[in-house]
Amino acid sequence: MSGAHRPLTEKRLVLATHNAGKAREVAALLAGHGIAVVTAGELGLPVPEETETTFIGNASLKALAAARASGTVALADDSGFSAAALDGAPGVYTADWAEQPDGTRDYAGAMAKVERLARHSPDRAAWFSCALVLAWPDGHVEAFLGEAHGRWVWPPRGDHGFGYDPMFVPEGETQTFAEMDPARKHAISHRAAAFRMLEEACLPKG
Ligand code: IMP
Repeated sequence: MSGAHRPLTEKRLVLATHNAGKAREVAALLAGHGIAVVTAGELGLPVPEETETTFIGNASLKALAAARASGTVALADDSGFSAAALDGAPGVYTADWAEQPDGTRDYAGAMAKVERLARHSPDRAAWFSCALVLAWPDGHVEAFLGEAHGRWVWPPRGDHGFGYDPMFVPEGETQTFAEMDPARKHAISHRAAAFRMLEEACLPKG
């Protein structure tokens, strides 16, 4: 299986994010493989508009833009929350549902919108998705999609985490992502699943 993937041989890559929190998280994961990270923000690269309709599409667009602009391998992510009763919405528009006219984000309001639109359906299934895409300056991409399946609950519960964490209970658990120990969330999350696929396929061992 791994023979079909292009291995990452570089010891440095550009992370196509301007979000310092995400950068720290990914840098820590990559450090274990001896790979250093510089962010697109630090390099002053422009932020492309997320015009695609899939997580992989948007992550690819960001990774390719950063790889081409920097001449170095780039890694980008795109993630979101989906409710089965809403045919997968908000999906790639997860952040947009929280966007306020003044540019700030209101996640309590975004979660309430999901509940308002989905409450009449008996189907409470929900999932988080995370796409991770590695792109090379020659246009080659390696794409991975991790998912965490579960159900949405109301009212929201818990103070850890961020975004839609307080309304999501993963399969086999009783606590929401926001109630559980953050280490537990990080072990079973969509981001962890995607990173494990990327590690297996492209990163040097240990
Ligand atoms: P992105 O930064 O464009 O990937 O936006 C992702 C959106 O999905 C943001 O609104 C996040 O709050 C939400 N999201 C992604 N991952 C998680 C998670 O692990 N917990 C809660 N919300 C998440």
